[in-house]
Amino acid sequence: MRWDPNKYAQFADERGRAFVDLLARIGCASPRRVVDLGCGPGTLTALLATRWPAALVEGLDSSPEMIERTSGVAGVAFRVEDVTAWAMPQDADVVISNATLQWVPQHQDLVRGWASALPPGGWLAFQVPGNFDSPSHTLMRSLATSSRWAPLVGDVLRHHDAVHSPEDYARVLLVAGLTVDVWATTYLHVLTGADPVLDWVRGTGLRPVLDALAGQRAPDAGDPRPAADVFEAEYAAALREAYPATERGTLFPFHRIFAVAHKP
Ligand SMILES: C[S@@+](CC[C@H](N)C(=O)[O-])C[C@H]1O[C@@H](n2cnc3c(N)ncnc32)[C@H](O)[C@@H]1O
Repeated sequence: MRWDPNKYAQFADERGRAFVDLLARIGCASPRRVVDLGCGPGTLTALLATRWPAALVEGLDSSPEMIERTSGVAGVAFRVEDVTAWAMPQDADVVISNATLQWVPQHQDLVRGWASALPPGGWLAFQVPGNFDSPSHTLMRSLATSSRWAPLVGDVLRHHDAVHSPEDYARVLLVAGLTVDVWATTYLHVLTGADPVLDWVRGTGLRPVLDALAGQRAPDAGDPRPAADVFEAEYAAALREAYPATERGTLFPFHRIFAVAHKP
């Protein structure tokens, strides 16, 4: 799937908040190596280099577009790599992954493997969105799977198994012998501008749909418009009802799941 770092950078402040909250619960004083798995444009990875200036800080991402965007970030070694191919170095005292594992099928197996391979004293921390039953996603799903759109979109949304419950993550980490700090919270973002929720998901959750529709025409015979434009217009109308704009902005609740684990 192609990422658009410019689009993703919109709402950087709102998206970054969860990373900061996750980082705050990692109690490591002086790690040898710190790894950010699925680092995106590297803006948040930079916070790791700031907190632990003496550590070797690495950022990996499978998207060449995202890694290209990290070029201005100092103090971090970035590279294109898929997290499913990554092997835990024995000096990886902090491993963090923010808003990435929901894109990785069967990631519980990876988490289990990372927990077991983590060096003694190491920290494993990740955050995933828990909003797949929110209107932003249910509306996208019902439109994409409608008889009109399904033939064009295909089966690209795997919302049903994208993330696990907080209890499931906690269990996997506990069974691996780690101490566990798992929580979930809902951020209530106040977004501005026209169709801000559409703008938000354009940078993330809508990307598989936009990818699938690229180069296709609208589903109705004789409609020459690009399919993606028509899909977005219909989806935006539904989002406006679900997240009404007010004079002071649009309230956008966003549920997220956090896990921070420590190997004694
Ligand atoms: C929502 S962005 C989060 C980026 C960054 N962690 C942040 O919080 O700003 C998700 C990132 O996960 C990356 N990603 C998805 N699947 C991946 C995989 N299998 N291996 C490595 N990176 C992956 C994407 O390329 C994208 O940059």
